[in-house]
Amino acid sequence: MRQIAIANMKGGVGKTTTAIHLAAGLSRQGARVLLVDADPQGNVAHALAVRRERTIRDLMLGQASFDDVVARGVRERLDVITATPAAFTLEAQLAGEPQRETILARRLKTLNGYDAVVLDSSPAMNLLAYNALLYASHVIVPVSMDGMAILGARQTLAGVHQIRELWPDRRLDLLAVLPTSVNVTTNATRAAFEALADDEEMRERLYRRGIRQCIDVTYALAQRQTIWEYAPRSRAAEDYDAFVRFVRTGGADVSADRDGRDAKAREGQTVV
Ligand SMILES: Nc1ncnc2c1ncn2[C@@H]1O[C@H](COP(=O)(O)OP(=O)(O)OP(=O)(O)O)[C@@H](O)[C@H]1O
Ligand SMILES: [Mg+2]
Repeated sequence: MRQIAIANMKGGVGKTTTAIHLAAGLSRQGARVLLVDADPQGNVAHALAVRRERTIRDLMLGQASFDDVVARGVRERLDVITATPAAFTLEAQLAGEPQRETILARRLKTLNGYDAVVLDSSPAMNLLAYNALLYASHVIVPVSMDGMAILGARQTLAGVHQIRELWPDRRLDLLAVLPTSVNVTTNATRAAFEALADDEEMRERLYRRGIRQCIDVTYALAQRQTIWEYAPRSRAAEDYDAFVRFVRTGGADVSADRDGRDAKAREGQTVV
């Protein structure tokens, strides 16, 4: 089982969109997936129309078990743990708790029956974000190519390094730097690609194909649907499908571009 956190300290770069489509995409391709909303904004519940009284907050506080908080069968093979703004107070409520950064990892330690756990996180290094990263084996950093999101990506990687230093027994691999809202005709996208390619660490894990800008993504989530339900023939449906295959096959073929072969060539070696 792989635990994949989606993180970037900058807001609005496509974290939630990616978490939802990675989780839903993996489950569409046959994996059993748990999607965990570790962001008190609680966007996942809204986007996938999940209603659940007990949330990640109750799990973190030890007031509910995994079975109490998990919403099963949100889509075929896809279960979800939701968050609500009530989780904003967790920081204060858990102030005196020892090792409070690893509560989620301990609560989910005996989890089984899933091929992958995908965690959405908030645009700040708060307690829930630390908990998501300390549970994760892998991290994906989405970078919006229409702005200066690279700064947020650098800060996020600095946070990942800090975690590796403070908890050396944790494995937290950078699975991909994922360009989102890619529009190759704009200077902003070109400049962002150049900046990512200049950064040694990000260049190595840069998923060059990226996710193209596609307004259907916004409409889909507003309609409480995934892109495959709302607009299966859209650019974003095609791009997220390819990215899901890339993750399933181990995330090795990071350099494949739109014209090149992608991870499909190695579909035999499925990891998730
Ligand atoms: N490929 C895309 N093309 C066009 N719009 C997109 C794309 N991906 C995401 N968006 C839009 O960008 C906005 C921000 O996306 P999202 O909510 O996923 O970001 P986020 O990083 O989770 O934000 P926050 O930091 O607030 O949690 C949303 O309106 C979403 O619909
Ligand atoms: Mg979000």
